[in-house]
Amino acid sequence: MTDASEILLPGVGILATVDLSSIENEGQGIVFEYENRLGKKSKGFAMRWKSGFVAFQNRCPHWSLPLGIDGDFLNSSGAFIFCPTHGATFSPEDGECISGPCVGDTLQKFELKKTEKEGIFDVLFVKSGLTISK
Ligand code: FES
Repeated sequence: MTDASEILLPGVGILATVDLSSIENEGQGIVFEYENRLGKKSKGFAMRWKSGFVAFQNRCPHWSLPLGIDGDFLNSSGAFIFCPTHGATFSPEDGECISGPCVGDTLQKFELKKTEKEGIFDVLFVKSGLTISK
């Protein structure tokens, strides 16, 4: 088991380890907790998107409220992550706000790295501008 605070490279850290083995439908996902760089408990979510998974901080940039409803993070069109409070929508590719009160803001995106166990992923914070091999 990897320590959640392990630092892999300068600017890269494991925030959490998540089990996505039961997530079958696009937009379906799980919420996980992690400790941010200030030592404060925060939440993120990981969801199925296309042939893989994506992960973001679970915090709308508008009023800092959680996204999705009951583990379903896509809006009715199935194209965008949504905020149920005021209806903001976000690109599942990069977290950019597409519509709503926070256009111009972006969800914090995390990287997911497969572990040796089927369906288990490490959630990585990767400093902007760095890339990692998956
Ligand atoms: S809190 Fe998400 S759009 Fe207002």
